[in-house]
Formats: sequence, structure tokens, C-alpha cells
Amino acid sequence: MISENLKGFKCLRCGKEFSLKQARYQCPDCSGNLEAVYDYARIGRKADAVKKSLEKGIYRYLPFLPFADTKLTPPLLVGGTPLVKSDRLSSKWGIELFFKDDTRNPSASFKDRAGAVALTVAREDGLDRISCASTGNAGSSLACLAASVGMDCIIFVPEKAPQAKIAQLLLFGAKVFAVQGTYDEAFDLCACVSTEIGCFNRSTGLNPWTREGKKTVSFEIAEDLGWEVPDYVFVPVGDGNIISGVWKGFRELFYAGFTQSIPKIVAVQSKNSDAVHKTLEKYKGKDVSPEEIEMIQVNATTIADSISVDVPRDGLAAVRAVRETDGFSVEISDEAILEAIKEISSNTGLFPEPAGATAYAGLKKALEDRKVKSGSRIVCLVTGSGLKDVASALKAAGKPISVSTDKAETLKILCGK
Ligand SMILES: Cc1ncc(COP(=O)(O)O)c(C=O)c1O
Ligand SMILES: [Zn+2]
Repeated sequence: MISENLKGFKCLRCGKEFSLKQARYQCPDCSGNLEAVYDYARIGRKADAVKKSLEKGIYRYLPFLPFADTKLTPPLLVGGTPLVKSDRLSSKWGIELFFKDDTRNPSASFKDRAGAVALTVAREDGLDRISCASTGNAGSSLACLAASVGMDCIIFVPEKAPQAKIAQLLLFGAKVFAVQGTYDEAFDLCACVSTEIGCFNRSTGLNPWTREGKKTVSFEIAEDLGWEVPDYVFVPVGDGNIISGVWKGFRELFYAGFTQSIPKIVAVQSKNSDAVHKTLEKYKGKDVSPEEIEMIQVNATTIADSISVDVPRDGLAAVRAVRETDGFSVEISDEAILEAIKEISSNTGLFPEPAGATAYAGLKKALEDRKVKSGSRIVCLVTGSGLKDVASALKAAGKPISVSTDKAETLKILCGK
């Protein structure tokens, strides 16, 4: 059942509002991406129930979700991931640093938040098939959740996607198309085929419901901080949908009276996939409306496959998230991402894939550039597990010490005698 709190859609580009019947994917007037709008005063009146909820994972925030109950949600635990404080890295940098460990989702990435909500909306609509284009994680997540409810799932990934992600897709039983091209080409192919066969397309940006799942990360961060918000949230950005969800989540908490402010949101991109950063730089300090912003396109080549995107599919929302929270963007090298994997792993026990270490790599750059005040409370999202891309993990890891089976040799290396 559709939530009574859900009012309709608002276009992120032209600002026009539509009822749920008038729009499905994008704005009927300008093709901008749509944002679901709720009755926040009404949600605010349910604040006590949310705060005392015994529900685990993303469904504890049910009044903020598009469905009224959890009858058709997948049975896997999505969200409810730990907010881990790193004392060592906090004192190293003179800040209060938390990592939001979203490697701990069923398919080992943040994308399960989006998939769970989109898939439930499709089931509420009585559909039995769902599709998605993906750099790897959105697809493996959707395939995982679809497997948990026995739904047919069609996934389009670039054939160069990391093997572990392709293995996940196949094992979860999806029909997998390994596209001989980039993610952007896989995206267009998925859109055409899905329209042709009338399949619910969960692809990022195009589908307004993914944002509704992704925003739950902000609810969890605020709740774990005692319904307060951090000073900054650092987010890895490819298509820009995660960052748009983070922004929406904090806005909604504020509108519904759960929190008193909205944190500054920082977009982090690889220099080898920096369309959002370049667009933010172009419009920096300029007073332009969303309609006037034109996204810059790039030829993405970053090692962080999950954020390797030529045309960010939710780019305008990403740009707005940064501009309208007084945040900023940072771009970093792929080498810095590999270093960040090692630093996070060895200092916290978390194990991120390249995109999952990108937010922290961006934080280091921002600290170097003195863009962040000392003592600030900062959350870095860790969005995907290192086990999904072992080839990159090995590049970051270096080599083990090779020894014979001789004890003396090993002790010599260990103790120097
Ligand atoms: C692990 C990981 N981090 C970050 C991102 C970036 O999210 P978005 O494309 O919404 O910007 C993705 C997207 O696939 C991802 O899988
Ligand atoms: Zn519009």
C-alpha cells in the first residue's frame, strides 16, 4: 500500500510538481529527475514512534518511505549499518571522524538501500520483473534482493566490471548482459530494452525511488549521533544519486523537526571521473538556478569502477546537494584512492573497495587544503566492500614476505637476529 504521507513528485530541474499518476520516471515537462515529496508535518507527528521503533534496518523510518507497511519488502536486513568512530584517525587529523560502514549490507554495498525500496515499489505495483544498468553494485544488489523474493531480474553491466560483482549477479540468478562498452552505454541499452518490454527500470537517476532508499543513511547517521547532524558528510560520487539521497535524508529530518540543521555535504570524485566536480567548479560563486546548470561530460577511466561515469545520471541533484548545503567538492588521484584503502583497512578494520575508500581520500585532501576546521565532526561513507574488487585491493596491499619453511630465516626477518 502506498504511504499516506507521500504527496507526489517535484522536478529537481524545473521545480514543477506532479501527482503520482502524472509521472513515472522523469519530469513530463523537462525530463529532469524527480524527487518524491511527503507531508513532513504529518511525519513529524510520528516522530516518537520512529524514535522508539523496534524495527531493524531501513524500515524503522517507515513514515519517510513510499509504502505504508513492510508486507512486500525483501526479507533481508538492509541498512542499520554501524557508524564506526576511529579514535586513531580522529587524533591523527584533529577531528572527530566516523565511518559509515555500508559494506555490511546483504550484497556488501550501499546500493541495497536503493534496491530494497525500488523493488518494493515495483511489487506494490504488482510487477514481477525488474531491470537495471549498473557499474556492478546496483545490479548485484538488485539481483540479490530479487532472489530473496523470487522476482525476475535483468541486469546490464559493462563487461569489464570486476569479476566478483559479475559472479554475484550470476549466482543470484539474474539474466546478465555483459555489455561490450561503458557503463553509460549499458545504461542506454537497459533504458531502450526496458521500455520495449515494459519492464520496471531501477537504473540510477532515472528511477525516483532509489533516492528514497539511499536517504535512509542520513536517518541512521543522525539517530546514531543522538538526533544531531555531523558538520560534514563526505560522499563518493559517480552518478550523484547517493549524494542526492544523503542530502534529501538530512533535509527531510530537518523539515519533519527531527534535527535542527543540515550538514555540509562534500562530493568526492576521482580526477579520472570528475564530471560533477568540474560542473561545480564552473558554477562556483555564480547565482544560477537549477535550470541554468548544464552538466559537463567526461571520459571516465578511474580504477574506482563504481564511480566511473561519463554522464552523471543524477548530476544536477549532486550539484545542488553541494551548493545548497554550502559544501564543496574535491578531486583526487587514483593513487590516493589506493592509499586510502590501505589506511582505512589498517586503522579501522573496515575493508573498502576503491569507491568505498574515496570519501576518506577526499577528506585527506580537504584537510591538506585546510577546507575543514579542526575539531569538526565528520562522517565518511564507506559504500562497498573490498572483497568485490580483489584486483584493486591487491594493488593497494603490496606483497607478503616470501619465506622458505625454515624457522631461523623467519625469525631473522622478524627479530633481526
Ligand atoms: C561502492 C559505491 N560507491 C559509490 C557509488 C557512487 O554512487 P552514485 O553513482 O550514486 O554517485 C557507487 C555507485 O555505483 C558504488 O557502488
Ligand atoms: Zn521538470
